[in-house]
Amino acid sequence: MKKIYVCQTNELDEYQTRGFTIEVGEDSLDFFLLRQDGEIRAYLNFCPHLGIPLNWQPDEFLSLEGTHIQCTTHGALFQLEDGYCFSGPCRGESLTPLNLEITEQQEIYLVSTT
Ligand code: FES
Repeated sequence: MKKIYVCQTNELDEYQTRGFTIEVGEDSLDFFLLRQDGEIRAYLNFCPHLGIPLNWQPDEFLSLEGTHIQCTTHGALFQLEDGYCFSGPCRGESLTPLNLEITEQQEIYLVSTT
């Protein structure tokens, strides 16, 4: 099991998203964190429609109202809770969630089982 440090929990406000690119061996992992009602989640920055990044602006992954994750290319909307797409060209598909561990020191780690 691999753990990769991402950031501290206090670096992410409620309903804020932050994008990260982390080098893992020879690959890079492009993902974002989302904080909702105190819960912090991570999803790959990869739209299931065309397999391209969701955002055009750094750290901007939410719809204007801040109620959903939105792909800026064709406007697909995804639920915050589980990344499920309920509107747009990839309706019925989902973002890929990543496992996180949050330590007592409020450090956020990505956890990989591979
Ligand atoms: S690339 Fe994301 S909705 Fe088309």
